[in-house]
Amino acid sequence: MSARSILTGIGSYLPRRIVTNDELSRTVDTSDEWIKERTGIKQRHFAAPHETATFMGAEAARAALADAGATPSDVDGIIVATSTPDQAFPATAVRIQAALGVTKGFGFDVAAACAGFVYALSIADSMIKCGQAKGVLVIGSEVYSRILNWADRGTCVLFGDGAGAIFLRAGKGTGNDQGVLSTHIHAQGSLGDILYVDGAVGQPDKPGHLVMQGREVFRHAVVRLAEAVQEALDANDLTSAAIDWLVPHQANRRIIDAMGRKLGIPAERVVVTVENHANTSAASVPLALCEAWKDGRIKRGDLVLLDALGGGLVWGSALVRM
Ligand code: COA
Repeated sequence: MSARSILTGIGSYLPRRIVTNDELSRTVDTSDEWIKERTGIKQRHFAAPHETATFMGAEAARAALADAGATPSDVDGIIVATSTPDQAFPATAVRIQAALGVTKGFGFDVAAACAGFVYALSIADSMIKCGQAKGVLVIGSEVYSRILNWADRGTCVLFGDGAGAIFLRAGKGTGNDQGVLSTHIHAQGSLGDILYVDGAVGQPDKPGHLVMQGREVFRHAVVRLAEAVQEALDANDLTSAAIDWLVPHQANRRIIDAMGRKLGIPAERVVVTVENHANTSAASVPLALCEAWKDGRIKRGDLVLLDALGGGLVWGSALVRM
């Protein structure tokens, strides 16, 4: 039997600075009521200048290794999901490798916007299954506050900064089905213009700001996320009743609720952090996973379904027995 990817540790990092809706409405033409009603968001964390994707990702990775009882010498690969790297290259993963004192293995970034963590997890799982790696850090780390257009109230109120990480180890697991059971990832490039960043280091005089057609994204998100969850259930011959916890991408409370209803998963089994973190893109799923792991809701042996969708469009799901 090929190796299983066992999720041995989870960690996270949030910038110290918390910005409430009220504070935001002093500089943006918006209100606490509007943001809460349309999105469920009450506050978000914004990074200080030193809190880059590398800095936050390294902090989250250290916490994940500590949670796993592992050391940097156990790491032979680092995959970072981010759309807001410190530099075009070296990859954030390589900078984090140096920060952690890891001296072997590989490191690279994955650019799949808000679905980045699920994409990175899928790649790490495949590498472990085929014997290419034994201990892989999978990290989502984002500083969206640096790419927001503060003149666009339809987008700048929706996002926050942070990082989350997991440490996967090759193993057989304690039960028959412990570890990553399946991952599914998808892209539909023809929808690239409904959510994108209008620049990058490769474009002259265009640092890049986030642009979104909110209603279009909302419409596709509910359908695609529900499909990705159903795909995971079908692949494992399960129904939604078997899922102990759904940990969805944290973009909007209304999207999460609509999806839960569609799939018949009760709200008590859905982890929601969007009210405190807002949308942290590739960091949102590991941040939510970490919160429910630390507070004891998610336990060893639980069946956890992760899903995410982002600009691309890109989306996917992962089913994990803790
Ligand atoms: N504060 C106050 N009013 C705002 C506002 C804000 N921050 N942003 C927009 N508005 C106004 C608009 O100007 C508009 O006013 P008008 O009717 O006078 O023209 C009104 O609110 C409705 O705007 P609209 O964009 O149609 O709102 P909506 O109900 O579609 O909600 C989103 C907007 C962004 C909350 C919603 O579309 C959404 O959540 N989309 C998905 C976004 C998402 O999750 N993206 C990430 C996926 S990874």
